[in-house]
Amino acid sequence: MASDPYFLLQAENVLLIIFAEHNKPARIVYLGSPLNTNFDPLMLDRMILRPAAPGGPLVPTPVTLLCGPGDLYDGAPGLRAHRSKQRWRINANVAACHVKETSITIIQVDEERKTEFTHFIELEKQTGVLSIQLEIKNLGETPVDIAHAPACVVPLPSGMDEMISFSGRWANEFQTERRSLGAGGVIREQNRGRPGHDGFPGIIFCTNSTTELTGPCLGGHLASSGNNTLRADRRPDGEIVFQAGENLPSGGLKLRFNGVYRTPKLFLGYSENGLSDLSNRFHKLVRDQLLPEKLPKKPRLVHYNTWEAVYFFHSLDQLKKLADAAAQLGVERFVLDDGWFQGRRHDRAGLGDWRVDRSIYPDGLHPLIDHVKSLGMEFGLWVEPEMVNLDSDLCRAHPDWTLTENPNAEIPFRHQHLLNLTLTEVRAYLLQALDDLLTEYEIDYLKWDMNRDFFSPKTHEHVTALYSLIGELRTKHPTLEIESCASGGGRSDFGILQYTDRIWTSDSNDPLDRQHIQRGASYFLPLSVLGAHVGPETCHITGRKSSMEFRAATAMFGHMGVEANILDLNSLDKNTLKMAIQLYKRYRPLLHHGNQFRLETDPNAIATIVSSSDYSEAIASFAQLDSQRRTLGSRLRFAGLSADKLYHVKRIWPKSLSAPPPFQQSDSIICDDGFIATGAMLMNAGIQLPALYPQTAILFAFEEKASDAT
Ligand code: GLA
Repeated sequence: MASDPYFLLQAENVLLIIFAEHNKPARIVYLGSPLNTNFDPLMLDRMILRPAAPGGPLVPTPVTLLCGPGDLYDGAPGLRAHRSKQRWRINANVAACHVKETSITIIQVDEERKTEFTHFIELEKQTGVLSIQLEIKNLGETPVDIAHAPACVVPLPSGMDEMISFSGRWANEFQTERRSLGAGGVIREQNRGRPGHDGFPGIIFCTNSTTELTGPCLGGHLASSGNNTLRADRRPDGEIVFQAGENLPSGGLKLRFNGVYRTPKLFLGYSENGLSDLSNRFHKLVRDQLLPEKLPKKPRLVHYNTWEAVYFFHSLDQLKKLADAAAQLGVERFVLDDGWFQGRRHDRAGLGDWRVDRSIYPDGLHPLIDHVKSLGMEFGLWVEPEMVNLDSDLCRAHPDWTLTENPNAEIPFRHQHLLNLTLTEVRAYLLQALDDLLTEYEIDYLKWDMNRDFFSPKTHEHVTALYSLIGELRTKHPTLEIESCASGGGRSDFGILQYTDRIWTSDSNDPLDRQHIQRGASYFLPLSVLGAHVGPETCHITGRKSSMEFRAATAMFGHMGVEANILDLNSLDKNTLKMAIQLYKRYRPLLHHGNQFRLETDPNAIATIVSSSDYSEAIASFAQLDSQRRTLGSRLRFAGLSADKLYHVKRIWPKSLSAPPPFQQSDSIICDDGFIATGAMLMNAGIQLPALYPQTAILFAFEEKASDAT
């Protein structure tokens, strides 16, 4: 829709209005719920225009797409660029605008500074999620230095005074923080070569009354696997402004004559109906638009991963036994983790030498893969192609292939160093090495790991080279699936998810931590991409014990797998795990394609429900994490159901429930064989749970019941 100089994009209850008048700077006028037809954008612009504030410039200084310094704009500047330390002021004005049904391309030119800025803006039809990307081109003969280039600068809808962002650490990613935005700015910035465990590049803004099910919210995610800066600043007049872009190296990027820099895409989602609705928009975007989609309908196979069972101590016999035990449990894909390649007996050697270690596997991986395949499972393999150990044939042959000039002087980080992927010969070597493996062996899946931070002015180039390497590999092997791992969830962004199929959400398999991690991740990422494994009874990372029932219920709400020494499982745990795997298989189409709603609970509990888009079925999880604060908890109110439909509700996990005395099975409805209630009853009144032991997870299934059968 266009009515010059206002350009409109609308889909799925989201409306964007852009002002782009010839010879003036372009800006976002409005991002929010649709306005009725026949509204006048000019009138709207005048209605919401923030006038000049006392004690400042005499004219309004609205937030423009670029927001460079020099417009007397009093917030943190967006674009910062200069030509030989001069001409810092950006004076870009609209030169052209191309409009299609779902996209607008706005070209702005700074005539004096001879620079062109093109914003590609697209509204995704199925989700109403916007993507915005900026391209900068130097039209002048001397170089332009770009110090900072956000994909876009976005004025937030009024009243969005709260921000949800994600912190964390290794083995405890996606920790959710909600805070009020006071004066000044909040900056989420990292500079370590990957987003890292504490730098997930997504932020949500909302009002102080927005809940999971009600109220407006706006989420921004920068699709970038390198160094990023996301920031929200409150201007002196109270307006809050959001911007996100790569964190460029100190000294900036130099664009020579005709040189071009493209920012990563900034995805912006908006909802009037609470945080879960916003998440479902992002989930759909990831599932249907971003993932490589080579195998669109393939279910997420149950994994067995060898890492916590054997670490570096590989023996063919032991691995075959593990494969036998995995197949008996119902596992569908066997993933051989670190330790299989040349010299890799520990983490100080071997990276770079992507040949099977013949001292352990004299006949290569064939005997193991043949065995795995004979059991009806797929085979997956761990690799970490971007890295090299100094103790490797590769590094001895090509000491100059590392990214740092002197790797010996680098701060040690898991004894490994980054390869310089920007060198054609390095990419060619890696492509060949991986291609050789994938050609010789029937490998269905790669776990692509990346286990160190790095500090380099070439991060942008590294990430670009990485994407193209994975892209080339996928073109050669179109049915291959790839997992993105960076010591767990250190690289889980929408950039890498355009090249990989799932993330390894966290190295911690402790279900107690996992409940928080998976809940945090679900703000932007769908369950289908969240690798979630049943670990050993005593978690190797936290030292905490947990029951098989709790571990399995937690892993079911993701892409389920098992990662433990299953040869020493007692028969009770073995049966429990087998049943959990069956249940996961039964419900995975729903878990991975449905809409997810995070439910409100008392503290010390986490609950979520996933329902089908026709509301005919749903599955919910309630996890009592720690002791209840009061003798009984609040009622659990569900969401995502149809108010008028009748549902048959059944507790499907655990098979039998133990709880603190004087718990009587007959007291609680959840112990019945199932009950029938309307969606309205389940959502408005909810059900009362009994007192539960800490670390108990209960799963409920909801099935629509035909009303004539009641
Ligand atoms: C990383 C991964 C683990 C495992 C090890 C192997 O830490 O996150 O899952 O693959 O590497 O070295």
